Amino acid sequence: MEICLEETLKQVIAWVKEIGEIQRAYFRGTNLEIETKSNAYDVVTRVDKLSESMLLERIGSAFPTHAVLGEETGRHEASSPYLWVIDPLDGTNNYSQGLPVFTISVGLQYKGETVLGVVYAPYFDELYTAIKGKGASLNGKEIHVARKTELKYSVLGTGFPYDKDVNPENNADNLARILPNIRGVRRMGSAAYDLCCTAAGFLDGYWEICLHLWDICAGELILTEAGGIVRPFREGREINLVSGNPDIVREMSKYLR
Ligand code: IPD
Ligand code: CA
Ligand code: CA
Repeated sequence: MEICLEETLKQVIAWVKEIGEIQRAYFRGTNLEIETKSNAYDVVTRVDKLSESMLLERIGSAFPTHAVLGEETGRHEASSPYLWVIDPLDGTNNYSQGLPVFTISVGLQYKGETVLGVVYAPYFDELYTAIKGKGASLNGKEIHVARKTELKYSVLGTGFPYDKDVNPENNADNLARILPNIRGVRRMGSAAYDLCCTAAGFLDGYWEICLHLWDICAGELILTEAGGIVRPFREGREINLVSGNPDIVREMSKYLR
């Protein structure tokens, strides 16, 4: 049975606002229980785990037949055509340091296509939303990608993978090539937020490598619904992407490998 996306969006907004309040309450506190995952650079806190368990509980109660892919707990299979793709706290490095760029990212796919995306930045109280074919908005106001066509006027976002010490393809080469040609670069620390800032025109473009579906599912829909494009720029097991308006993506692509 197909669900009503408008109604579902309202539910998701209530979930992320509730979880965002908890994230704000723990933020810059002393009881984060910071642990490392794959290596010293890859951290997780009790708030990541708590946020994911709350999302799983909310999704499970509202849509008991749906499948879920969550960063912290992996895949919860189901035969339903609906798959929720969640990153309960995107920007954990920032969060554990007391830096305010962190988000909750909730995407919903139907038969493999993302149909709904919500990214909430609790510290800033910025709520980015999109429904497939219905445009994208920030706190209820429609957003669009920047119109710039030249790199020399552009401020771009990017990021670096956690295995940057052992992986020679760590994006440092791309940064070195593109940096002399742009107005500025920002390393926000939350891929979901980078995509939303690009959707709203706060960044003119964004590229990154070695991402996972939970980092980008919601943000990609928000960006494309805001008139942007998202393209892979090389082969690879994980997700790599360049995004922005079509002109800036073409210009950026000249420097990315
Ligand atoms: C990370 C952030 C970061 C990106 C990393 C991601 P996490 O997600 O999105 O900006 O550079 O590749 O893994 O670990 O904070 O959820
Ligand atoms: Ca993430
Ligand atoms: Ca995360």
